[in-house]
Amino acid sequence: MGKLKDSSSIVWSWSLLLMISNVGLLVKAKSTIEPCANSDSCNALLGYTLYTDLKVSEVGSLFNVDPVSILTANAIDISYPDVENHILPSQLFVKIPISCSCVDGIRKSVSTHYKTRPSDTLSSIASQIYSGLVSADQLREANAIQDPDVLDVGVSLIVPLPCTCFNGTDNLLPAVYLSYVVRDVDTLAGIAATYRTTLTDLMNVNAMGSPAIKAEDIIAVPLPACASKFPRYASDNGMIVPNGSYAITASHCVQCSCGPGNLNLYCMPASLAVSCSSMQCRNSNLMLGNVTMQQSSAGCNVTTCSYGGFVNGTIITSLSTSLQPRCPGPQQFPPLLAPPSSVSRDKMFAPAPAPQSDGAGTTIPKTSVVPSTGSLPGLSPASGPSGSASGASGASGASSLVNSLATFPTAFTLYLFVKFMMSISL
Ligand SMILES: *[C@@H]1O[C@H](CO)[C@@H](O)[C@H](O)[C@H]1NC(C)=O
Ligand SMILES: *[C@@H]1O[C@H](CO)[C@@H](O)[C@H](O)[C@H]1NC(C)=O
Ligand SMILES: *[C@@H]1O[C@H](CO)[C@@H](O)[C@H](O)[C@H]1NC(C)=O
Ligand SMILES: *[C@@H]1O[C@H](CO)[C@@H](O)[C@H](O)[C@H]1NC(C)=O
Ligand SMILES: *[C@@H]1O[C@H](CO)[C@@H](O)[C@H](O)[C@H]1NC(C)=O
Repeated sequence: MGKLKDSSSIVWSWSLLLMISNVGLLVKAKSTIEPCANSDSCNALLGYTLYTDLKVSEVGSLFNVDPVSILTANAIDISYPDVENHILPSQLFVKIPISCSCVDGIRKSVSTHYKTRPSDTLSSIASQIYSGLVSADQLREANAIQDPDVLDVGVSLIVPLPCTCFNGTDNLLPAVYLSYVVRDVDTLAGIAATYRTTLTDLMNVNAMGSPAIKAEDIIAVPLPACASKFPRYASDNGMIVPNGSYAITASHCVQCSCGPGNLNLYCMPASLAVSCSSMQCRNSNLMLGNVTMQQSSAGCNVTTCSYGGFVNGTIITSLSTSLQPRCPGPQQFPPLLAPPSSVSRDKMFAPAPAPQSDGAGTTIPKTSVVPSTGSLPGLSPASGPSGSASGASGASGASSLVNSLATFPTAFTLYLFVKFMMSISL
């Protein structure tokens, strides 16, 4: 993979830009560009910093993505009442899961549109609303705007966003790429530490000759992930879930998680939607995600009912049996975080800790049934207008599922989360 990237990525050369700037042109931020040939797409992430307080659903519409997928990508507990109307605080850093396509020979995401409002300018849309993920020039070009000073109100602008696929691998291991906008306090080594990768790897991925970075550069950061093996004809073919997070699929019927113990995708019923096709494996009484084990002299006979993709509205299940040397322990889940409500300033310039570095993982008893009270001890879920119905249906449906996952010390993980967010947001 390294080779492929080195030869195929074109990255603005910083020294060249310096020379250009010396002769009086504006210095442009650099960004990793991945050439592509076919029309396939992949899952990718955008690192986004909120420019103001926004509801989860508003962040979703800003990027044209399912709000629930934003929450699961950030391992945020979706069982909170009316969680789609939860207000996320200004300056919070979140990962936005997007589909990365191939447009005019390069990777980018083009499904995002922005409707202009009074007082918007191309540069305010670029640097504030989309937190530097797009530039004013790119907006002007993508929308063929003649005079950037005259921006009509209510116009729908295409917002091209940077993303990379690199074949879903990094050093031959499954990976999802995060498009990260460099802040002036960042160093490449710091970013590498935050995302548990190496300086060399980041330099290879981004085809950099030196570790020098500059505010507003956009770099591709590989995140280790769990890859699915769903067939081509499955609508969620190619699904890949970063370590420490979740994804929701099959019309909100199936929830898949990755990590912390291993990088095998683990899927189970999500009970987000009311009407889901059967999630029981044929010729067995096992449900999606169920595992039975039988210790014998030869080893451990493990039978698993696993998820095989979403095909024509049907949840594909498959039963498999394997003989393993040892019986696996109970399934572990990435810790869930409470919907964040504040971004504390004093931690902002603390040294970047590795995200979610407790490493403990949380074992969730499969049989536990936790009543969906929607509120966890010690935390007051900040909910939006309670009468608002729009986001509520998905959220309330989500309750039963995630509450059963929410059996770890929430306050502690919230602390880690805020600490983590601090380390990477402004
Ligand atoms: C992409 O990765 C897959 C394994 O995930 C591998 O089989 C394939 O050869 C890779 N393709 C390229 C072009 O490197
Ligand atoms: C393992 O378990 C399955 C299902 O319980 C059974 O059909 C199979 O014969 C067992 N295999 C061995 C080697 O025990
Ligand atoms: C799914 O639907 C398409 C057309 O809607 C059909 O051609 C295909 O055979 C279906 N596949 C399965 C597995 O039912
Ligand atoms: C996945 O995340 C867990 C916990 O954050 C960590 O302990 C583990 O090393 C990670 N695995 C990989 C392959 O990065
Ligand atoms: C099988 O999975 C279902 C759905 O996740 C769960 O409710 C049930 O407790 C599991 N059964 C066993 C025996 O693990």
